[in-house]
Amino acid sequence: MPTSAKKRYLVTAALPYANGPLHLGHLAGAYLPADVYVRYLRLMGREVLFVCGSDEHGAAITMRARKEGVSPREIVDKYHVLIRDTFQKLGIAFDIYHRTSAPLHHQTSQDIFRKLLEKGHFEERETEQYYDEAAGQFLADRYILGTCPVCENPDAYGDQCEKCGTSLSPDQLLQPRSALSGATPVKRPTTHWYFKLNEHEAWLREWINTGRLEGKVLHDPATWKAHVLGQCNSWLDQGLQPRAMTRDLDWGVDVPPEIPRSEGKKLYVWLDAPIGYISATKQWAADHRENWERFWKSEDTALIHFIGKDNIVFHCLIFPAILRAHGEFILPVNVPANQFLNLEGAKLSTSRNWAVWAHEYMEELPGREDDLRYNLIKNMPEQRDSDFTWKGLQETTNTELVGNLGGFIQRVFVLVHKNYGGLVPQARPEQVFRSGWNAEQEVTLDRELFALAKKLEEMGAEIERFQFREALRVLMEISSAGNALLQFNEPWKAAQERAEEVKAVLFAAIQYAVALSAAMRPFLPFAAARLRAQLNLPAFEDDGELVALINDLLEGNAVLWPDHPIGPPEHLFSRLSDEVIAAQMQKLRAAASPVQTDAAAPAPSVEYPPVKETIPYEVFAQLDLRVATIVGAEKVEKADKLLRLTVDLGFETRTIVAGIAQHYTPEEVIGRQVVVVANLAPRKMRGIESQGMVLMAEDAQGRLCFVRPDEGWPVGFGVR
Ligand code: MF3
Ligand code: ZN
Repeated sequence: MPTSAKKRYLVTAALPYANGPLHLGHLAGAYLPADVYVRYLRLMGREVLFVCGSDEHGAAITMRARKEGVSPREIVDKYHVLIRDTFQKLGIAFDIYHRTSAPLHHQTSQDIFRKLLEKGHFEERETEQYYDEAAGQFLADRYILGTCPVCENPDAYGDQCEKCGTSLSPDQLLQPRSALSGATPVKRPTTHWYFKLNEHEAWLREWINTGRLEGKVLHDPATWKAHVLGQCNSWLDQGLQPRAMTRDLDWGVDVPPEIPRSEGKKLYVWLDAPIGYISATKQWAADHRENWERFWKSEDTALIHFIGKDNIVFHCLIFPAILRAHGEFILPVNVPANQFLNLEGAKLSTSRNWAVWAHEYMEELPGREDDLRYNLIKNMPEQRDSDFTWKGLQETTNTELVGNLGGFIQRVFVLVHKNYGGLVPQARPEQVFRSGWNAEQEVTLDRELFALAKKLEEMGAEIERFQFREALRVLMEISSAGNALLQFNEPWKAAQERAEEVKAVLFAAIQYAVALSAAMRPFLPFAAARLRAQLNLPAFEDDGELVALINDLLEGNAVLWPDHPIGPPEHLFSRLSDEVIAAQMQKLRAAASPVQTDAAAPAPSVEYPPVKETIPYEVFAQLDLRVATIVGAEKVEKADKLLRLTVDLGFETRTIVAGIAQHYTPEEVIGRQVVVVANLAPRKMRGIESQGMVLMAEDAQGRLCFVRPDEGWPVGFGVR
């Protein structure tokens, strides 16, 4: 079912941990796409509620508190405010920005826990867990350090080795030690409530892949992103296991106190955090004398979660299972997760301070919120990881915003002032001029306005498909067509002799400017508001303005009438100078700590493998190399080196078994573009037929990395 068939929308954006400021990766991952989507829906007159808030529990918070030597409460209070204000300044317009430390959230989470317990969805299990006798507490996975069994990094965490990227469990660490006291932890028995996630595997698989549940069609899987489905299926294929939903901690939501053995236990942060969407809705409803249940308990609502790819399984499998086990809630119709944003060609890293912090950006480049929004949307990691660069920001600002869009608006305003004293001219409907879409084509006003309306619809359709990069491209096509309209008709030449024609052209150009003021609003809300004021039109109320405008244009009607006085020409955007960009690049490099290398050790003398025997060109030409995308990945059972990959070659999909499991997790490879040997004879590995090979580079230490084409390169074509 298309989401547009639903009556109302509930849009959520991942609750950021209140343990540090936001960086550009956060914005490009979840918050900008969500904001564009919501602003668009509002302009189309749809009912939308947009909720978010701070995620204030879990090890992310307590670790930060330890580091800064303050209480968790102080940490969340500080970052909650910073993050909330950052969003607001960037124009990310939530209806509510709530927080999970609020009493309403604690109550809501406990009520859901009680209900799940009552309905038999938990089993209580006793297990042995690491306990720090010196500190007198159980240790969360992140609080246990030890030697990585894969790469021997002595400082691996109990959940992951940050050096080689392997996901771990505390039991796999060699020589475990406590991050709190440094003591060797001991095992102690403890009981926890495990959610029987395994019981939900069958319907989750069916629901995710077909959209069907109990005979009803709830969503169209064709509208879900391939990497989201891929990650879900790779989890489902490994089999879902019961999952502990409580922890031995002293910061978080209490397990309801009337439950036996609840003392000292808190809810697992990934149980309480998504419930934050519900408590945020409740708080909003209380503030506005509204009913929250129509958003969560009615199938007329389309629930959409915007998140980054590290949150996929929580939003597509675990939280939906909780919602359904509870029994009263709807499920999401889509989870349009984005991949990751890199920075200047390297992975963002908060620990290395390799990041551009959003609040610093806004302090140092005031008034450039839209420049950033534009660049991040244009480079959004929609299907695969993408890269932010300062040079790129300068380029998009100066060429596309100042040059194309700003240039068009400026020219229209100057010409209308010069020719008609700032009043919209009267145009004859039958007057012909050259279309902005095609220099060869002569059009009348109504045809030109119809073509404009169609483009606005095309832009909207891309947004509804969560293709924000495409939507932005269409927006800029409209501006380019406006520029072409002026270029093809040259209204500055012989304005006296061809007065009627010039009037018609400028009348059309003004309609373009009005259309742009609305179409820009989801992407560039600040510039859109400025343009609106410049046009001397009322400010947006985000209440159907775009749909009204499209309908008028489709009928060939104008959207701004003769004699309407427009304001004086002003620059909508301004150029970003080389100095500003250089200063930011300098700052980034100066603030970052160097990549962890074994710099102290003497450089080992490397031995390069000898070059193989020369081959004639014809032998090389027999290789058929193709660009492809990995759309699925899973571990091969009982083979710790192998991943079974599903690879999309455009014209077909293949299974390839690759010996990379010790270097990449399935989640990490899904969505990557690679180069595949497409004409290699198939070969069976562990009973699976491998239909080709993925090209990898290997270094002296035996580390592997993918050989990959430029970002966004089309799949299915050859490599020479
Ligand atoms: N705080 C989590 C993160 O940053 C996201 C929580 S999303 C929610 O990765 F659904 F749990 F709220
Ligand atoms: Zn490791």
